[in-house]
Order: sequence, then C-alpha cells, then structure tokens
Amino acid sequence: MKNTGPQFSFPNGAPIYQNGAKQNECTFIILGATGDLAKRKLLPAMYDLIAHDRLEKFVIIGAAIEHTTIEHILDGAREFVVGAIDEKVWQHIKERSYYQPVNFNEPKDFTRLYELVDSLEIKHTLKGNRLAYLATASSYFCNLTQQLVASKIIKKSIATDDLWHRIVYEKPFGYDAQSAHEINACIKSCIDESQAYRIDHYLTKELVSNIALIRFTNIIFEPLWNNRYIDNVQIILSETVGVENRGAYYDAYGALRDVVQNHMLEVMALIGMEAPEKLTGEFIRDARAKTLQRIQVIDAVMGQYEGYLNEKSVRPQSTTETFAALFLRINNPRWAGVPFYLKTGKALDKKETVIHIKFKQVDCLLTKNCPTDSNYLTIRLAPDESFILTLNAKKPGLSQEIVPVSMEYSHSCIVGQVNLSAYEILLEEIMRGEQSVSVRFDEIESAWRIIDTIKEEKIPVQLYAQGSKGPEVAEQFAKKHGMRWRS
Ligand code: BG6
Repeated sequence: MKNTGPQFSFPNGAPIYQNGAKQNECTFIILGATGDLAKRKLLPAMYDLIAHDRLEKFVIIGAAIEHTTIEHILDGAREFVVGAIDEKVWQHIKERSYYQPVNFNEPKDFTRLYELVDSLEIKHTLKGNRLAYLATASSYFCNLTQQLVASKIIKKSIATDDLWHRIVYEKPFGYDAQSAHEINACIKSCIDESQAYRIDHYLTKELVSNIALIRFTNIIFEPLWNNRYIDNVQIILSETVGVENRGAYYDAYGALRDVVQNHMLEVMALIGMEAPEKLTGEFIRDARAKTLQRIQVIDAVMGQYEGYLNEKSVRPQSTTETFAALFLRINNPRWAGVPFYLKTGKALDKKETVIHIKFKQVDCLLTKNCPTDSNYLTIRLAPDESFILTLNAKKPGLSQEIVPVSMEYSHSCIVGQVNLSAYEILLEEIMRGEQSVSVRFDEIESAWRIIDTIKEEKIPVQLYAQGSKGPEVAEQFAKKHGMRWRS
C-alpha cells in the first residue's frame, strides 16, 4: 500500500463510518428481486448492514414475476458478499426473508403482497417503516408506483421521522428527457417528493462525497478552482468487464445512458458547482442542478468492443456504444474556456474511476529547467481510494532538474480497507431520510438533455479490441483537442 504523502489521521478510535444512530427497523420490499442488482448489490448490502450492526429489526420481502424461492435468491447473492460470511448473521437474514411471485400488471398480486407485508410486520413486531426498492427497468417505475400506492403497501404522505414509507428508483431514471418527464409526472401524482429516492450509488462513494469537502475546506484549492488556474478536467470511468449477463438492458441503453447520464455527470457537477450555501442535501442538489443546466457538448466519439455482437441478448446488428469520449464545457464565468473531458468504456485495459484536475503550467522564471509538467489533483474513486497532488520539485543531487513528485492520501492506509459498499451507505442514508443521496428531478432532466443532444448526432461506433485503451478515434480526439488522456 502506498503511503508516501503527509500523514493524515482521524481522532483516535473514531469509527470509520460515523453517521448517527443505528436504525431501528425497516421492512425492505424488493421489486425485481430475481434480477442482477438484487443479487449483486442489494442483498449483499443488506447483509453488510446487519453484519455491521447498523439495523436492529428488519424483514426482507422479495417479489418478481418468477416462481422461485427466497433460499434460491439468497444462495445466488451469497457469492457477492465481500469477505467471509458470518454464518450466524446469514442465518438471521434467512429467517427474516421471504419471496412472493408478483405479476407487475396484476392488482390482485399487489393486494396479496400487501397482506404478506402486513402479516410479516405483525409476526416480526415491526411498526411498518417501509422501503420499497424498484430494482427494475425504469419503464416499470410508473406502474409499480401506482400499484404500490393503490394496494396501500406504500401510503402517500407517510413521511414523518417516526413512521415513513419510501420508494427507491434505481438509475437510469428514464431513457431520455421525455420518458423521464413522463415517469416523474406519474410518480408525483402518487407520492410526495420526500418519499421518492431517485438514486445514484456514485453519490455515496466515499471519495465522491469527499469532493465537495476537499474543495471547500482547503484554502489551497478553492481560490484556484476556476478558469484562471485550471487547464482541464478529465473524468474517467474505465472497466475491464464487458456487459456480463446484462446484454438486453445494456444493448438498449449503452454507455451514455448507463453511466454518463448519471454517475459521470453527477461527478462533473460536484467538481463544477458553485459553493453551496451549506454542505448539506438540498443546498448541494441546488448547486449541482445549476451546474448541469450549463453544460454544453462540444465533441464526442463512440466505440464498441469487438465481440460485443456475440454477447447474449445483444441485437445482431447493434450499434450501441460500449465506449464514449466527450468534450464538454460548463458555460459560466468560473469555467469559461475549460474543457471537461469524460471517457468511459467496457472491456478496456483497466478498472479505474478517476478524476484528474490539471492546473495551468507556471511560467519558468526561476529555474534553468522548466517544470516537466503541470500540477495535478487526482481524485481516485476506485481502486485504492485516494487523492494525489502532483507537484514539481528538484531532483535530489546537484542538478537543478525538476521532476514531478506525488503527495498521496490513501484512504485505506488511514482508515483501513473501506469495507462499506456504496449500496450499504445508500440504504442507510435512505432509512435515515437523507435526501442528498437522491438525485433531484431537475438534475436528472438536465443530464438527459445532454445525452439526448449527443444521441441526436448519431455518432458511428468504431470497433476496439477487448483489453485495449479504446478505439483509435479516442486518440484522434485527443490530438484534435490538444490534450492527452491521463489514464
Ligand atoms: C452501474 C452500471 O450503474 O455502474 C454498470 O450499470 C457499471 O454498467 C457500474 O459497471 C459501475 O459502478 P462501479 O461502482 O463499479 O464503478
């Protein structure tokens, strides 16, 4: 583990995740319980919550169209729990987990689901805080919200601190601005805004929630955070995996809708936003929303990995992009003229999510040899959560040669391997009623407008080899704009 930089420390004995009291109770209702998200993320996150002793009482009720059993679903989720499983905890979860087949279009099935929820809350002496997680495609969101409310599983306006009913909507929320609008109008007619959580798991990643803090609590950054001192910003989300067994979903959505519309643009909004009045939920959402409204697309190139067309459930002639490189700007006085470059892809050479903020190069007045490079602030979200400040310094010895040196804060070196998944934090924050983990509709809408603009261009995809750095056009794009991808 690298730890070459200054030593940071937290108060002795402070727990890694200090965010208030343990939650008392929750009835989790997972719609789409047989899907990938439930298996890979939600159920393991629920296990973690219980294993970390963050939730006292609970019941988990899975529902989906398939006729299956909760044992089968839990068996599938087991391998996605990170680290050794505590069998006692697993058994405890098994004893409080249930499954019921539900046809999403059948009101009678929701009445039966309501009866199950009600009887299980009595059985397990729960007072009825309900979190309905829609782990489904967004085309079901409207219908499912209506069914949940009509069957009284979720009651409108039950949103006090003492008793709450909440619905969680996975990303991507919609397919484009128009569909997102329609879904949102439908949801608004069923439940209060305070009951709706349109989530983006990136917002609970440790270093993403740290971006605003790094900016606004360090005098060495915020005064420089503008077009006078920043040359460009790169946001890179690179993955080694292909579409895995999500071919049908991915082929309909592609990289722009899958990760750019949500994760990458939200990160860009956090980097670009003006200082919020306070560093809390609604103020941060306001600041992010204003930034997203000002984003303009300058250029874009697309790619598709070789062999993508052979993936299960992908259309034979599909032109869906599995790679995208974008040049965006934020049209406001702070960022006038500063390029924001975004790059993402599946089946690339490495798994990495990183932000590089490149500062302008200084004039060489003092030394014989000019600095070799600009200063960079690198915020690494994964792997090895860290931030790194690259400075210029004299090479040890007699020469006056300048070399780049890195000061690195490695999160895991200080707090130990961070063992809280983004989804675990997400569930806990939703139970707590923390709205900043939920993306407000105006943010979603602005982000869709950006994606819609790019999609209208019908940019052809260029093939790239699996395990490579992406298509050749990404390098041509870099040359054309006089930049260099930093990873
Ligand atoms: C999900 C996308 O939202 O984010 C996936 O649907 C992608 O395609 C994933 O792999 C990346 O998330 P993370 O947390 O692994 O960076």
